[in-house]
Amino acid sequence: MRHTTGPIAGPLPKAELHLHIEGTLEPELAFALAERNRIDLPYAGPEELRAAYAFSDLQSFLDLYYQLTAVLQTEQDFADLADAYLERAAAQGVRHAEIFFDPQAHTARGVDIGTVVRGLARSLDHSEERFGVSTGLILSFLRDLPAEDALKTLADAGPYLDRISAVGLDSAEVGHPPAKFAEVYAAARAAGLRLVAHAGEEGPPGYITEALDVLGVERIDHGIRCMEDPQLVARLVAEQIPLTVCPFSNVRLRCVDRLEEHPLPAMLEAGLLVTVNSDDPSYFGGYVEDNFRGLREALGLTDEQLRLLARNSFLASFVDDARRAELLAELDAHALVPAGRPEV
Ligand code: ADE
Ligand code: ZN
Repeated sequence: MRHTTGPIAGPLPKAELHLHIEGTLEPELAFALAERNRIDLPYAGPEELRAAYAFSDLQSFLDLYYQLTAVLQTEQDFADLADAYLERAAAQGVRHAEIFFDPQAHTARGVDIGTVVRGLARSLDHSEERFGVSTGLILSFLRDLPAEDALKTLADAGPYLDRISAVGLDSAEVGHPPAKFAEVYAAARAAGLRLVAHAGEEGPPGYITEALDVLGVERIDHGIRCMEDPQLVARLVAEQIPLTVCPFSNVRLRCVDRLEEHPLPAMLEAGLLVTVNSDDPSYFGGYVEDNFRGLREALGLTDEQLRLLARNSFLASFVDDARRAELLAELDAHALVPAGRPEV
């Protein structure tokens, strides 16, 4: 039996750096928003929808992910979506979140980018006081659409750039190499935005190199396929390029067969600056602390390794120096119950 008189160690304080807000849409909220907006979903209810979350690859997931964005229509819908994520994230130890959004998934349906950003901001503006979570927004371009569409999206985002900290690149990777977006990344850099890109999720290690050398990104999202190229690993280690790895996502999208076979321990062993994130938690079976717990249980990660992952998340984040120092101090002060010993 557990005694509760001693310190209870909650989840480690951490930053989440790879999280698509559209991927936090839980089936129950999808149905509530569908009802509010009088939209028919082709599922009988949340349980039937959840049962459809069985994917064979990235594209099979993206098809459902884009389909369900139909329920997001108004500023309040986006605010409610972000509120729901931030409340869950806070309960999982998240103290800072850098949140992707896909404007083209909404503008293609006739929902203005201003509706999206103002709606998200309605939630994010109060996130620190309500949930203790500081936030940033990352505008992500859909790489399977033409580069001209990305340029137009950046131009449309002009009035909202003070709300946006970085640009990213997501959606179907293979066949859409980073270099396709050289021009829009140069424009984003000139506008003062930070730069990240998904690379090496399903795509080859060469896409990681291209994202670094052609786009000039500071962080790689996923990046797990770097492990196929020892020279690339050596470079990522030497330059301490952060990789925002998403273990549950990699298993659900069949990039990795089983969590027990995930390359994360080898990545840590190699000296890579790895972080752990949830990607699209509603679809992939868990939020960020669930990923941490999964790594402990399936791969035997130690408390020390989990603490390093949390530390890396703060080092790799785009917070200012004062906030970074505050977050690192909070992590250092966090009591961890030694593994295998009951709390007393
Ligand atoms: N959009 C949402 N999640 C994604 C992922 N894991 N890879 C590429 N695009 C995405
Ligand atoms: Zn992603």
